[in-house]
Amino acid sequence: GESVLYLAHRYEVDLEGACESSLACSTCHVYVSPEVFDLLPEPDEREDDMLDMAAMLQENSRLGCQII
Ligand code: FES
Repeated sequence: GESVLYLAHRYEVDLEGACESSLACSTCHVYVSPEVFDLLPEPDEREDDMLDMAAMLQENSRLGCQII
């Protein structure tokens, strides 16, 4: 699918994504603007668990590979 991670790579935005969207890293960590953040479905538990390990976690943090 065309996740934020996929689109970042396609448009040459520097976002890592070490585990290739398998929810085994947090290198696709992104901050989402508040307006958009509120429109997204809640992260599932596996995303939350990975997010907990991300550096510089913020209220608007998500994993880019999980935003479709
Ligand atoms: Fe690893 Fe998103 S690329 S969790």
